[in-house]
Amino acid sequence: MQSKGIKQRVKILKILSQSDFVSGQSIADSCNISRIAVWKHINYLKSKGLKINTYLNKGYSFTGFGDRLLPEVVRLNLLKNNFIKDIIYFNEIDSTNNAAKRILKEGSLVIAEQQKKGRGRNGKEWKSEKYKDILFSVTVSPKMPYHYLPIFNIVGALSIAGALNRLFKIDAKTKWPNDILIGNKKVAGVLVEFIAEIDLIDKLILGVGIDVNSKPKISRASSILSILKKGKLDRLEILIAVVNELHSFIKLIGNKNFSKIQAIWKSCSLDYGKDVKVKENGKIIVGKSDGIDSYGNLILREGRTISILHTVSSLKII
Ligand code: BTN
Repeated sequence: MQSKGIKQRVKILKILSQSDFVSGQSIADSCNISRIAVWKHINYLKSKGLKINTYLNKGYSFTGFGDRLLPEVVRLNLLKNNFIKDIIYFNEIDSTNNAAKRILKEGSLVIAEQQKKGRGRNGKEWKSEKYKDILFSVTVSPKMPYHYLPIFNIVGALSIAGALNRLFKIDAKTKWPNDILIGNKKVAGVLVEFIAEIDLIDKLILGVGIDVNSKPKISRASSILSILKKGKLDRLEILIAVVNELHSFIKLIGNKNFSKIQAIWKSCSLDYGKDVKVKENGKIIVGKSDGIDSYGNLILREGRTISILHTVSSLKII
């Protein structure tokens, strides 16, 4: 459950963002707290970068959310989303996936401005720039058999690509299993980890890293800003769009509507219908990418041979 302080500040922000000017007394009355409490909450929000003007003994006017992904601001923008129950924010943390594993509550959204030990797939480090990129993890409790795990990787990647395409009218694609590319540059990745209960996935942690306003780190990767060559991008807008997309996809999984996910994957995949090479334990498997099965595994055809490649191993298209 979200803390009382955060809930009160979300309410205050909602009131402020709906009018040009609000008196301290009317906020206090609406929230059923004292004017001093209102003043303290507003000072707290201002100290975190929110743009609120204070008119002594009169009231407040709101001019902007600032550029931090604060839980109050994220919650206010996710009020209609019942998938996220709790938002936990860190200015710095080892890794949002690690923090989510420590919390392990379904519906937790863990956001960090910086990770000290950000992790990518296959034990690689995930680097990011403080206040410039998006780093978050979501905890889902699917109680589904273990072999459904790969589909969560797939929907993580599709959510990011879908959100970017909708927001920026671009053609972001996914590269199996979980890279998101604009052109030939990787801009985001997904790291799925889980806690299993004999054969069922008990808790699943889906970590998302998106390079938004940072400088490109390596030649194969870039940030959305560097590619779009626009001014500073609104991280909040991107985060909200991705979380909402993810929610829609998790509902599709819950309804076992895998055919819809498979169709979206085909339209969004960089590899679909193409000849690809996949490296598995030093061995190269070649074939035409023929889609994903309902579990999210890649189907490769080479003549009469069909290979089903499992997403949650260290496999990767090369
Ligand atoms: C990859 O492409 O290798 C996956 C990258 C996943 C990075 C995200 S950032 C938030 C979450 N916390 C982590 O430590 N990793 C994931």
